[in-house]
Amino acid sequence: MPGLAPVIGHRGAAARAPENTLAGLRRAHELGAAWVEFDVMLTADGVPVLIHDETLQRTTDGRGRVCRHSAEAIQALDAGAWFAPQFRGEGVPTLEQALALLLELGLHANVEVKPATGHAVATGETVATMLRRIWPASGPRILVSSFEREALGAVLRTAPELPRGLLAGRLPADWATVMQELGCTTLHLDHSRLDLRRLGELAGQGVPVLLYTVNTPKRARELLQAGAVAVFSDLPDALLAAQ
Ligand code: G3P
Ligand code: MG
Repeated sequence: MPGLAPVIGHRGAAARAPENTLAGLRRAHELGAAWVEFDVMLTADGVPVLIHDETLQRTTDGRGRVCRHSAEAIQALDAGAWFAPQFRGEGVPTLEQALALLLELGLHANVEVKPATGHAVATGETVATMLRRIWPASGPRILVSSFEREALGAVLRTAPELPRGLLAGRLPADWATVMQELGCTTLHLDHSRLDLRRLGELAGQGVPVLLYTVNTPKRARELLQAGAVAVFSDLPDALLAAQ
C-alpha cells in the first residue's frame, strides 16, 4: 500500500474530539494528520454510519443496538456532548457524509468495516458498493480493513480494486494464508500484543504492518524504528510533533 503516512488519526483524533464524528475528522486534519481511521457499521435500514460500538450509549445520547435503529433515528442523536460541551450537536455521520468531507479536505482514510454481529457480509458489501460508486480514482487514498474476514471477503468480491488490510489483535497463526486469500496488502495489529522482534521479522519479509493504538511518542518511535509502516493514534499531533 504506497502512500501511507507514519501517523494515522485513530477514530479521527479520539483524544482531541469525539470519535467517529465529522468534527473529529476535521480536527485530525487541523492537527496535521494526513490519514485518519474510522469505524463503519450498518443501521437497521442498511445505511453505513461511523460508530465503534454495537450499542449507542457510550458515544451518543441514545441507547440500544445500532443495527436496531434506523439511520434517521441515529442521525437525530448527539454524538459530541459526552466528549465535551463544545461538541454538543455533533451527530453520527453517515459514511457518505464522511467521504464528502475527506474529499473536501484531501484526507486519506482507513475505513474499518465494523459489522454488528451477524452482519459481516452485508456491511462489507455496502461499504464497498458505496466506495465504488462515490470515490473518484483521483481522490485521496482509501484502505479498507476489518477484523471480520467475511467482511473483507465481501469487499473483495464487490470491489476488488479497493486496497484491503487484515486487522487482528494478536498476530494470527494463519495470517499469511488469509492475507493471500483475501488479497490483503497490509496487516493491522495491536501493538501491545506484538513483540518488537516479531515486528522486525514481518517487516523484513516485506509485510506492511500498521499498529494500534499508540499514544506516546516514545512507543511510536520504537515501533516505527522496528519496521512498522504506521501507527494509529488518538492524539496524532503529539506523535507528529515528536517526529
Ligand atoms: O483499525 C485499528 C483500530 O481502530 C482497531 O481497533 O477497536 O479501535 O476499532 P478499534
Ligand atoms: Mg477502528
